[in-house]
Amino acid sequence: MKRWNIFLSANVKNVIIKKVELAATVVKKSQYPEDRLPEIAFAGRSNVGKSSLLNLLINRRGFARVSGNPGKTRTINFYEINEQFRIVDLPGYGYAKASKSLTETWGPMIEEYLKGRHGLRKVVQLVDIRHDPTAQDIQMYEYLKFYGLDGLVVATKADKVSKSEAPRRISAIKRALGISGSDKVIPVSVLKRTGHEELLKEIGLLCDF
Ligand code: GTP
Ligand code: MG
Repeated sequence: MKRWNIFLSANVKNVIIKKVELAATVVKKSQYPEDRLPEIAFAGRSNVGKSSLLNLLINRRGFARVSGNPGKTRTINFYEINEQFRIVDLPGYGYAKASKSLTETWGPMIEEYLKGRHGLRKVVQLVDIRHDPTAQDIQMYEYLKFYGLDGLVVATKADKVSKSEAPRRISAIKRALGISGSDKVIPVSVLKRTGHEELLKEIGLLCDF
């Protein structure tokens, strides 16, 4: 943990992502990687920017597929970094045009992962900085709380609000999700490449390196 802190305070950009691998693309438990590497999952509404943020964190444009249309990521994708930890990109929820059968499979698919995954340290919940969290966002956060996986929220697309508006939006998000004082809401912008270093630091601390 100490080593990571020194690393970051020296120069965050020196955090070297040496190797990124799409270790698995799965729809069920039997397909998950079997080892016990620490994992951090990304959850949030479809189109909120999960895959985009992942690309920014690993500094690989287009590595995870991104789309202007919601419903792009439909599998659980395990991205292995430096053979040390994984970021797990979950399919987005709340996709209005998703067929009923897809909605019925996504819920249980995400739940199966969150419930019993060894190695899962924390779930980063992503919400759009412009909007109040939806009922599904709130439900997801309650769910994460129940499993002790809550406490790290990212407000995406921070470039879409003014600097003066941002703190007000963060407060509104905190209020809606019932986030206590010490828990974080980190604003990020993939467009402006801001906020990701703070998130990477949190992930480093959670994964003990
Ligand atoms: P699903 O895979 O459908 O769950 O979506 P996702 O959450 O992975 O979203 P994705 O990363 O595919 O991004 C959705 C859209 O938002 C794309 O058009 C991105 O270019 C855009 N986007 C993502 N992050 C940002 C951001 O920080 N700023 C702006 N302006 N647009 C963003
Ligand atoms: Mg995606």
